Amino acid sequence: MRHHRFAAAFGSLALLIGGTAWAAPRSYDVPEPTAELLPVQGHEAGFEAAQTYCTMCHSVDYILTQPSGKGAAFWNAEVTKMVKVFRAPIEEAEAKAIAAYLAAAY
Ligand code: HEC
Repeated sequence: MRHHRFAAAFGSLALLIGGTAWAAPRSYDVPEPTAELLPVQGHEAGFEAAQTYCTMCHSVDYILTQPSGKGAAFWNAEVTKMVKVFRAPIEEAEAKAIAAYLAAAY
């Protein structure tokens, strides 16, 4: 008798699992390849540093979606904000090179 009850319980468990709708595989459009920073002649160091540091926490889209022609003051402030507010581990000399590069490139 006990054996019977166990079998019944097991049967309904199997039914429960079998009745679960498994997520069907879906296909998604492949996202655009991640945008990249543009090299600028004379700003190789800033370009390299920007590639290293400015992609640590977010994609370069954050840079590329800024309106162009914002100038050195804007990029200096932006890089300083990343360092001071968000604790980006960037040395001051590198931060300056990055800001100069970004001002020249964007
Ligand atoms: C330590 C992490 C970190 C690093 C490294 C970093 N950022 Fe950011 N950045 C952030 C965060 C956090 C935000 C704000 C995200 C949000 O608001 O959704 C942000 C936002 C931005 C924005 C959007 C405008 C704004 O001020 O919110 C720009 C532009 C930007 N970062 C540029 C840079 C550049 C240039 C560098 C390289 C010098 C850099 N980031 C490196 C964390 C970082």
